[in-house]
Amino acid sequence: MILSGKDIAINIRQAMREEISSLVQTYGRAPSLAVIQVGDNPASTIYVRNKIKAAEFCGIRSVQIALPVTTTEKELQKRIAALNADELIDGILVQLPLPEHCNEERIIRAILPEKDVDGFHPVNAAALWLHRPLVMRHEATIYSPVQDYGCTIACTPKGILSLLAATGVNLDGKRAVVVGRSDIVGKPLAKLLLDRQCTVTIAHSHTIDLPAVCKDADILIAAVGKPKLITAECVKEGAIVIDVGISRMPDGTLSGDVDFEACKQKAAFITPVPGGVGPMTVTMLMQNTVECFIRRMQKEQ
Ligand code: GUN
Repeated sequence: MILSGKDIAINIRQAMREEISSLVQTYGRAPSLAVIQVGDNPASTIYVRNKIKAAEFCGIRSVQIALPVTTTEKELQKRIAALNADELIDGILVQLPLPEHCNEERIIRAILPEKDVDGFHPVNAAALWLHRPLVMRHEATIYSPVQDYGCTIACTPKGILSLLAATGVNLDGKRAVVVGRSDIVGKPLAKLLLDRQCTVTIAHSHTIDLPAVCKDADILIAAVGKPKLITAECVKEGAIVIDVGISRMPDGTLSGDVDFEACKQKAAFITPVPGGVGPMTVTMLMQNTVECFIRRMQKEQ
């Protein structure tokens, strides 16, 4: 069965729109998100546009800041400091990659952890690894896939949990293989799956006999950016296959890390590219913005 992130994302955004309109009643204003783009990387421009459109749909106030590619790191730091101090800004996102003369790690650290809607700040990343959810009342739902860890969880791993919840499959005790060990996807996702009682393996470019490792997985997640790395021989019959990769091919088409046509025969659930993980990532950015807003509002009271 094809797991359409696009359809699930639309449902969640509609529910969020209603939640946000009631938050406006409660707190007197809408949550707000500032999105900074430095330069005009074409892929970043598309991503930023999608984020602004989703915010508009949900009723989140967005502030788009487009800076020239010549912006110095110091200027960017100043912009972030102003947004940190701005009471009316709840979330700050700096679209990556940045031009080479800007140090991404320093820029991520410049964002207040409370406003870091990407969950990339070391305070947020570390909190995920140190803590189990503060509230672990029930299984994940597609709308709220992660119980409150008291920090911001990166959008893509959170979106993947939401997709897994949509399958209705109980994750407890399942073997999960995460291919890819990035700070943005592979590592946080592995921790989230561990917290949901999965037995987790992280595979990567040095893994010996990748197909044998993957073949063990009840849940297989590919997040490396290598087109069609996951072939049918990597997939166990009845597995859930989630494809995070998205690569532009020489003919202009988009390809995931999974050979979709071959693997869909064996998988119980599989995500397409595009229309799988991507729309869920953007939706969870909206969810993170709302969570940052609520935490800030509750702190003020
Ligand atoms: N560039 C590609 N994906 C992302 C993301 O999730 N957040 C940010 N800030 N930049 C990105």
